[in-house]
Amino acid sequence: MVNVALPKGRLGEKVYDLFERAGYSCDEMHDKGRKLIFENMEKGIRYFWVKPSDVPVYVERGVADLGIAGKDVLLERHPDVYELLDLALGKCRMCVAAKADFFDDGEKTLKVATEFVNIASEYYARQGRDIDIIKLHGSVELAPKLGLSDVIVDIVETGTSLRENNLVITDEILPISARLIANKANFKFKTKEIEDIVNLMRKQVKEND
Ligand code: PRP
Repeated sequence: MVNVALPKGRLGEKVYDLFERAGYSCDEMHDKGRKLIFENMEKGIRYFWVKPSDVPVYVERGVADLGIAGKDVLLERHPDVYELLDLALGKCRMCVAAKADFFDDGEKTLKVATEFVNIASEYYARQGRDIDIIKLHGSVELAPKLGLSDVIVDIVETGTSLRENNLVITDEILPISARLIANKANFKFKTKEIEDIVNLMRKQVKEND
């Protein structure tokens, strides 16, 4: 069996569609319920629905052979896994944003609120900029509005969250998309099965383009 950790939510549904079109369907997946494990014995595949930010944990520890994680999660956590394929889904950008009237003189310590402490710290370290990092777990757009921070580092997809909170992008850090990842040791034992999946998925990604 190849065990796959899928990220719960909208992205996960799209990723599962890709697996289905690649020939790895599992009929029970369409019954909406609370069940978290689904398998297709004939195809030799088993899916688990996990919290998106936990996908690398399952894969790194080998409970899942494969998983799907956003590039943001991979850059933030640096899990020791193989990155096999860019699925070109869940596309968005990691950006710096601030109030439109914020002026950065580049001199004083910049207050940065974010869920992505490592990505933000590495970005400002590359610029040699001193920052005061403020870790938040959501509703990050509030921070500049309430004076908790000067800027935020966050994911921008449509730009609606920023617009509705009167924030503007001041810098783009990097593009993000969903990646297929694999446990390193399990990849050695199940090379053929995993490569078959990757090749069929790659075809589907190209057709989606
Ligand atoms: C992300 C991100 C922004 C929003 C951006 O939050 O933190 O708030 O999406 O998308 P937009 O540009 O299309 O408005 P998410 O919905 O994942 O929830 P979170 O606040 O819990 O991280």
